[in-house]
Amino acid sequence: MIDIAEIDKKLKDYKFIDLFAGIGGFHYALKSFGAECVFASEIDNKASETYYINHNLMPKGDITKIKEKDIPKHDILCGGFPCQAFSISGKQKGFEDTRGTLFFDIARIVNYHKPKILFLENVKNFARHDNGKTLKVVLNTLNEMNYNVHFKVLNTSKFGLPQNRERIYIIAFNNNFYKNTEFNFPVSNEISSLNDILEDNPTDGKIIEREDIEFYKDYKPVKNIFGELNLPNKPIQIGKVNKGGQGERIYHPDGHAITLSAYGGGVGAKTGLYKINSKIRKLSPRECARLQGYPESFIFPKSISEAHKQFGNSVSINVLQHITKEIINTIERNEQRTEVGFKNRKERLQERERYSIQV
Ligand SMILES: C[S@@+](CC[C@H](N)C(=O)[O-])C[C@H]1O[C@@H](n2cnc3c(N)ncnc32)[C@H](O)[C@@H]1O
Repeated sequence: MIDIAEIDKKLKDYKFIDLFAGIGGFHYALKSFGAECVFASEIDNKASETYYINHNLMPKGDITKIKEKDIPKHDILCGGFPCQAFSISGKQKGFEDTRGTLFFDIARIVNYHKPKILFLENVKNFARHDNGKTLKVVLNTLNEMNYNVHFKVLNTSKFGLPQNRERIYIIAFNNNFYKNTEFNFPVSNEISSLNDILEDNPTDGKIIEREDIEFYKDYKPVKNIFGELNLPNKPIQIGKVNKGGQGERIYHPDGHAITLSAYGGGVGAKTGLYKINSKIRKLSPRECARLQGYPESFIFPKSISEAHKQFGNSVSINVLQHITKEIINTIERNEQRTEVGFKNRKERLQERERYSIQV
């Protein structure tokens, strides 16, 4: 994650809630700008334990069982919610169309608390899910509740973390606080390579020894005129095991890791396979933590497979921090605008008063 200077901790007066909290990627990102987490919810006990050890806050369980009024007041609602289909009702009313899904639980909490800002995340395909209808229902629902919504797919690869991970980010501003607000998603093209985050011979990065490993010959590192490597900022496949299906492809550490996943199968399940120091291996939990921007102090579960699952489910903290910087820019622009608007209104009133006295 990025170090945020004291002067930039501009969310000190903000409280946030962390829904579908997992192991707390949003928690780290928002807290790094000074915001305080007042509530978290996570249904998975093992993820909740990891959350508690690291954030000293025990998430409440299943969000569908928690009443809106039992959730504390907050300014920002965060949530990387599971992707589920919506059955579109005849009226396409938004809110009512989301019943029976986990987005409905976000919607009912938003409707009750009306937080200033919503910060949501989902898989890239969410935008195309059910021919775009799922996203449309989410947008309609948020618009219906008086939110101004912005969304974009961003790749972790561009934000200094060597992992190919495309996710849709949805940011919504409550129109009662930020009228017709502009929001710019961050733009970045930071170069990195898997080599930057590797551990030396980790004991928990499983080594694969098999007869059916096959290498292609076509990757050669290219150097520029300064003798530096020209890094491609994406995964470089150099070989395969078995038939080269999911989890069976081998990548070069000059490139990026493939998307960490909670449920991926194959020999390289959840992390992919990499040729590192002449050995073929999976990534260790610490390497996965680094690929998602988690700090070195982060404590993960003892079970390696559980740790892989938790990081595969999580978010890239650096991307969230870049987006949060833009949220702060929007808040500041809005404050300036309302101050200017207020000044203009005040001057007009004073002028009118002067005029009426003269008359
Ligand atoms: C995509 S992950 C989000 C991970 C999280 N953003 C992080 O940083 O680790 C979705 C999470 O929602 C949780 N979840 C699913 N259904 C839930 C429910 N009904 N109540 C609370 N959490 C739920 C899952 O266990 C999973 O950890």
